[in-house]
Amino acid sequence: MRIALTVNGERREAEVWAGESLLTTLRDRLELPGSKNACEQGECGSCSVIYDGELVCACLVLSAQADGHDVVTVEGLGGHAGLHPVQEAFADTGAVQCGFCTPGFVVAAADLLRRAPSPTDDEIREALSGNLCRCTGYAKILDAVHLAAER
Ligand code: FES
Ligand code: FES
Repeated sequence: MRIALTVNGERREAEVWAGESLLTTLRDRLELPGSKNACEQGECGSCSVIYDGELVCACLVLSAQADGHDVVTVEGLGGHAGLHPVQEAFADTGAVQCGFCTPGFVVAAADLLRRAPSPTDDEIREALSGNLCRCTGYAKILDAVHLAAER
């Protein structure tokens, strides 16, 4: 089936199969590999995107459902202005090691700061509880979110 959706502010079309996930469509058909595929079961958050203004795991959304909807991926977060403050803060604080989890954390953190511009540690932990990182121990990630909030 053919779907049309808005991705990072642009209308995009794709031919998808009935059971295809939005994550697969983004990565394999729309040339947006920023959202990562680590578990494909909604467990790790590496595929986090903003879907009609809500944070979701793209691996759990059927592309067929996404027809006519609005998606923002990590590639579109900063818009034409360049890097999003969260992306800059992750780089500046060393919150990135292997980087596989980073796009999902960045999208989830940006979503949090949109809702809560000055979050507490607990609010950050709660907001990022759906994102798993095997490398950083999370401390630097918390630092990055605080830095982005300050900026
Ligand atoms: S790949 Fe979607 S939650 Fe892990
Ligand atoms: S930086 Fe490697 S999994 Fe998070």
